Amino acid sequence: MKFSSLACLLLPAVLPALAELQSRTYLTPPGSFKNLITLGDSYSDVTFSFTGGRQWPRFVEEYINGTLYPFASAGAVCTNNLTDRGPPFLPVMDAQVPMVAAAVQREGVARGLPPSMSADTLVTVWVGSNDLGVLLSSGFVINGTITVAQTAQCAVSVVESMYKLGARNFLFMNVPTLEKSILYGPDGVFYPNFYMTQEHDGMQVNLGIQLLIAQQNYITLSGLGMLAATLDRAHIAYFDSYRLFTDIFRNPSGYLAGTPELVKPAAPCTYPPNVDMMSVVPNCTLVADEELDSYFWHDELHVSEAIAKVIAKNVASVMNGKTNPYTLWLS
Ligand SMILES: *[C@@H]1O[C@H](CO)[C@@H](O)[C@H](O)[C@H]1NC(C)=O
Ligand SMILES: *[C@@H]1O[C@H](CO)[C@@H](O)[C@H](O)[C@H]1NC(C)=O
Ligand SMILES: *[C@@H]1O[C@H](CO)[C@@H](O)[C@H](O)[C@H]1NC(C)=O
Ligand SMILES: *[C@@H]1O[C@H](CO)[C@@H](O)[C@H](O)[C@H]1NC(C)=O
Repeated sequence: MKFSSLACLLLPAVLPALAELQSRTYLTPPGSFKNLITLGDSYSDVTFSFTGGRQWPRFVEEYINGTLYPFASAGAVCTNNLTDRGPPFLPVMDAQVPMVAAAVQREGVARGLPPSMSADTLVTVWVGSNDLGVLLSSGFVINGTITVAQTAQCAVSVVESMYKLGARNFLFMNVPTLEKSILYGPDGVFYPNFYMTQEHDGMQVNLGIQLLIAQQNYITLSGLGMLAATLDRAHIAYFDSYRLFTDIFRNPSGYLAGTPELVKPAAPCTYPPNVDMMSVVPNCTLVADEELDSYFWHDELHVSEAIAKVIAKNVASVMNGKTNPYTLWLS
């Protein structure tokens, strides 16, 4: 083995860690999958799709001719124990994983799960956006103790809980570029909308969400790496949705039709500032059908159907057992 002079300067303890990280980078996909279980929030919810059309798990189902077992639910945080949004939302750890557990205990075809959770089945976990929203609106620390360290650990623990229920294959999707949405946009981009009508310091919100996303994504990646080493026969992949979205922003015409629109949503709803949302009728508009494929955002927080298809293509390639540029297999 040859070391460069730079490598010789590194502490010996760092070298095995680096080597391990490097070999992990080259882990090959463990195989192909026919069933998809989704856990998470509105970014995966197919019951109420926020894309203006279908949501990405439905496209995956079509692209791979597989079967979707959807548990993701709009508004979900990881757990109300950390970031409490109250009803009617269904947090992943408090509601979605227990639903899977209940289904595991039920017998027969009506149990709402694939024939086997361990073979041919991939579990996607895409959670954190709402946790970070709650943290941000609470000034980064809740009740003096809860920070992004706990929300990130909770997201990682979803994988462990599903492993205990028999799942073995995981695609953990990190928090995407929310800072580019209208909701978290800086002054001049933000306008009062369905998700928030309060006037606020847009620069602070924009930088705050960027900071939280970077922290959540870094902590979940390292946490999953550690977890992967402890779960026998598990295959855990990290899907870098942040980087996928960033690539789309860098080269929009590679993904969107006509003249790509990266800032304005296809279906904006504007409110007067600082109002009680129930007391006013918002001004909602929708671009013409033939323009929809040019829009990155469908509304002030959610991506369009065109972007859902891009996400689905990448997840489908993972499920087909292919190497995917946004997917790092950790085990
Ligand atoms: C899709 O899968 C179903 C059963 O799972 C099968 O009957 C059908 O032939 C498949 N379609 C294609 C196009 O492969
Ligand atoms: C939330 O708190 C309850 C009560 O302390 C506990 O039973 C439960 O396991 C906690 N859930 C998570 C996900 O931490
Ligand atoms: C924070 O403290 C308040 C008041 O004690 C309590 O009602 C709330 O449930 C706590 N929130 C969390 C997430 O622990
Ligand atoms: C509604 O919003 C659109 C743009 O989103 C704007 O062009 C239009 O003037 C608004 N209508 C009203 C009544 O405010």
